[in-house]
Amino acid sequence: MVEYEGCREKQRIIVIKEIKDSANSTSLVIRKSAEGLKGKINIPGDKSISHRALMLGSIAEGETIIRGLLLGEDPRSTAKCFAAMGVRISELNSNQVTVRGVGDSGLQEPTDVLDAGNSGTTMRLMLGILAAQQDKFFCVTGDESLRSRPMSRVIKPLREMGAIIYGRKGNENAPLAVVGQRLKPIHYHSPIASAQVKSCILLAGLMTEGKTTVTEPFLSRDHTERMLQAFGARVEIDAETHSVTVEGPTQLRGTTVIVPGDISSAAFWLVAGAIVPSSDITITNVGINPTRTGILEALEKMGADITIMNQREMAGEPVADLRVRCSSLQGCTLSGEIIPRLIDEIPILAVAACFAKGTTVIRDAAELRVKESDRLAVMASQLGKMGAKVTELPDGLEIQGVDSLLGAQVDSYNDHRIAMSLAIAALRAKGETVIHRAEAVSISYPDFVETLTHIALF
Ligand code: S3P
Repeated sequence: MVEYEGCREKQRIIVIKEIKDSANSTSLVIRKSAEGLKGKINIPGDKSISHRALMLGSIAEGETIIRGLLLGEDPRSTAKCFAAMGVRISELNSNQVTVRGVGDSGLQEPTDVLDAGNSGTTMRLMLGILAAQQDKFFCVTGDESLRSRPMSRVIKPLREMGAIIYGRKGNENAPLAVVGQRLKPIHYHSPIASAQVKSCILLAGLMTEGKTTVTEPFLSRDHTERMLQAFGARVEIDAETHSVTVEGPTQLRGTTVIVPGDISSAAFWLVAGAIVPSSDITITNVGINPTRTGILEALEKMGADITIMNQREMAGEPVADLRVRCSSLQGCTLSGEIIPRLIDEIPILAVAACFAKGTTVIRDAAELRVKESDRLAVMASQLGKMGAKVTELPDGLEIQGVDSLLGAQVDSYNDHRIAMSLAIAALRAKGETVIHRAEAVSISYPDFVETLTHIALF
């Protein structure tokens, strides 16, 4: 058991403990609400950009240096998969990682199954690359959660390109078998705004002769488009129709990637700072790519006091420092084009909504049902255990604000963002909250508990 030193002033006691049980699972115990979270936080590298840097570096010619890579479990899964195909990647234990690219046809046929772990981005983006590796055979799998997540959204368009891919349940679920082919270009109109779908097809298109285009209903995160250009690819973007085109075959060239801090990780502190009385937190070096800043717009709409400071550009991505101070929040309605720009932040926004006056309604977010867990069902049930008034809708949540929550026994369902969202909710819950299976945080934020302790004890 690890017990962090409590902050034992009269009104202000927070005890954070991690308890390991016999199944080697960790429960995070947060007792009594903290007041006045204060300090400066440096958040880990952006998960989406980290995956892309490892993948593009692997299929580029020459060396890629990645600074600020996220050292979480998900990028480790990507690195392991590409290492198994002969890419030399330096150990993921320091701020700087080197990838010695093998070129777009240099990947070796792996001698064993590729394991994407818990990472949908690893599996879906990698499938685009594997499908185009002519005459090589690959098996791809993942953990229990990933094996139940839909893969036909990428397999269907890849098959239109001529890919040979088979999977369980009518090619819906991993394990998957891929026999690399010479592909043909397509114009794919994706029914969903998904950066994983868009990126998968663009990566396949990179190794395919001709122009491959993806059109999506709303703009999803555009890190792939930006990074492809940094690696030397020509990318055409039609902002009006949300279309992206790559012309292949294009050989990428290794480069230096500087990974900004992940706004999806910053979101936990933005909400913590907004809802815990007397808080004043500054989060440094946060990526504020407009395809990701829905969380800032939503919190501002709710009345959060957030200041964006020191805006700058780092290796093709906009970056800033964010300061958040506690303020009273109002409920609001979120739907439509903003949803893909805050899709991963909906669990923590649900926590903010619990403490906002009136009703918050989130719609058009059915995608949350097929993330690492069914995030609509899990947030409704777990916040419900803490006394929140949450109604599950088919494609969203309706949340009625309350004065405070009650500590309870809750479960992450092995979902990193659920574990962290519940930990922030616990900061405004009376009594003790125990979050089971809290080790899930290591997927995207290995230092989450240390950082929480740091700002609680400042
Ligand atoms: C991601 C895209 C999003 C997001 C996921 C990461 C990416 O998924 O939820 O956490 O890196 O491309 P979808 O593309 O399925 O919306």
